[in-house]
Amino acid sequence: MAALLAGLLVAGAAASAAFSLDGDLMRGIEDTTRSLDSNVSLKNKEAAAAEAQQLVDWFAQVQGYYEAKGDAADAVGFSRKTHALASELRRALASEDYDAASDTLGLLVRSCKTCHEVYKHK
Ligand code: HEC
Repeated sequence: MAALLAGLLVAGAAASAAFSLDGDLMRGIEDTTRSLDSNVSLKNKEAAAAEAQQLVDWFAQVQGYYEAKGDAADAVGFSRKTHALASELRRALASEDYDAASDTLGLLVRSCKTCHEVYKHK
């Protein structure tokens, strides 16, 4: 089952040929996270939910990228964690629990830094 899921994620990453993990992607992630932060504060449900969804999609791709790469088990774990937090955030927004959304966003931003400490060398 795990192998099947991993296969699906890798296939997903391969299907979007434009995907590459680089500064452009990460700057997009950063801008979206910032905007999400203000939309959570302003309780802009629709906009925040769309941005949380975008993060869910991106981190599924990041996870697929590191799984395909094969020598980055920690990065697979960090991507999975970040992906799970983005999903949790999306759920909190769906139930309009902005306190939970804000807490989860704090954890999400910390999980960006955890991966950067190991994998961002520039
Ligand atoms: C699984 C690992 C991982 C996670 C999780 C992660 N990043 Fe990154 N990030 C990287 C790597 C690797 C780079 C260096 C990419 C490069 O420049 O090629 C990077 C670079 C960046 C940069 C610098 C881009 C530039 O070149 O100007 C920003 C900004 C950034 N990440 C934001 C974020 C934010 C915000 C999050 C969380 C929402 C996040 N990242 C989560 C791995 C990760």
